[in-house]
Amino acid sequence: MIIAPSLLAADFTRLGKEAVRATQSGADWLHLDIMDGQFVSNISFGPAVVAAVRPFARKMFFDVHLMCGKPEILLEPFAKAGADLITVHVELGEKVPQLLWKIRSLGKKVGLAVNPPTAITAAQPYLDQIDLLLVMTVNPGFGGQSFIHECLPKIQQAETWRRERKFNFHIEVDGGINLQTAAECARAGADTFVAGTSLFGARSLKTAVKKMRKIICENDPALADLAVPAAPAPVLLL
Ligand code: DX5
Ligand code: ZN
Repeated sequence: MIIAPSLLAADFTRLGKEAVRATQSGADWLHLDIMDGQFVSNISFGPAVVAAVRPFARKMFFDVHLMCGKPEILLEPFAKAGADLITVHVELGEKVPQLLWKIRSLGKKVGLAVNPPTAITAAQPYLDQIDLLLVMTVNPGFGGQSFIHECLPKIQQAETWRRERKFNFHIEVDGGINLQTAAECARAGADTFVAGTSLFGARSLKTAVKKMRKIICENDPALADLAVPAAPAPVLLL
């Protein structure tokens, strides 16, 4: 499973140090929320910030989440800035096929995000072209929002498609993820967990990551048989 702290919840006055903290926390990916003030009513940061942070987190996988209305003009700059995976939103409609193709042509992993009000079936035509399906569990635009439980069946549906059609895309959840909601999403079939407030907002990022990893492991059906120690063989009383 993958744990990805969202830099949006980090201390913006010291992003380099925050990226080092994320690297040292044992987290797997760094989630970078890019907001353009059009697709969502907030503005976060751009490719220059991603490029500036990159050297502080060399070993981390940069998971760039574009909440942007015109991502076509941003794909190359973020690829150059150090993105490893770029996610665009299925709500962009007929632009999506071209965007996924362009991300792939840049040599990056391909992600597709689905907002809470959007039916998960909107992503179905693209499942064979993506490396990650992001099931948003809040409406995009801000950190610190409450988890939307109605999104859980969408995670289950995505996991069913993945299993039945033998796809291997990551199922990522993003928004309001804490220990309790991470457990619920793990049970539903998620394997990649974005968390901002509950991780960067914790006293110790390292401890928070460790606790989240443990609770996911305990709730992930795929890991369940690994998590429980094998029962000792019965002693035959002869
Ligand atoms: C919201 C972003 C999320 C958000 C997560 O638009 O996509 O990644 O930053 O932050 P928390 O974990 O605080 O909800
Ligand atoms: Zn995000």
